[in-house]
Amino acid sequence: SAHIESDLVNILFTEEEIQAKLAEMAKLIEADYDGKDLLMVGVLRGAVMVMADLARCLDRHLEMDWMAVSSYGSGTKSSGVVRILKDLDTDITGRHVLVVDEIIDTGLTLSWLISNLSSRNAASVEIATLLRKPEALAMPVEPKYVGWDIPNEFVVGYGLDYQERYRNLRCIGTLAPHVYS
Ligand code: PRP
Ligand code: MG
Repeated sequence: SAHIESDLVNILFTEEEIQAKLAEMAKLIEADYDGKDLLMVGVLRGAVMVMADLARCLDRHLEMDWMAVSSYGSGTKSSGVVRILKDLDTDITGRHVLVVDEIIDTGLTLSWLISNLSSRNAASVEIATLLRKPEALAMPVEPKYVGWDIPNEFVVGYGLDYQERYRNLRCIGTLAPHVYS
């Protein structure tokens, strides 16, 4: 179909629900970082939408930077080895860093990223994620800000892709079986 949303069999979160959740998260972040500088670090590529919308919910000054990381070798994450494809442009020494991602699945990406960033003498390193899959978690990751916990099923939209598609959906949902065949 020409309408990509018609590939969804179930919508978990509408655009309105996502924006309301980000506004809630922004209130908590504003309170916690009151009087502190804030450097938001987005994890490319999935976090682009969350970063853009969460940052615009925040009524305060902030900076944004980006990292791109990848599983080592074959592209499977099971090795737990991650490499940096694009590092920060910012020296985070003494900075309050808030890592922004749209989903914590196994936790491998962010557990590695947090330990990497923690070795750079930041003043603090915390995580904000829109989604988390508690049942899939294989590594200890403790995000300070979580939008929703979701079941361990494959979701797309709002930055989340299937074969690089569906990131531009405004909602989050599950794909109809015909998409996979
Ligand atoms: C996805 C997602 C998270 C990560 C979560 O990114 O955006 O960054 O996987 O999975 P994990 O908790 O099991 O590590 P992906 O590496 O697929 O790249 P993308 O952001 O470019 O889609
Ligand atoms: Mg990602």
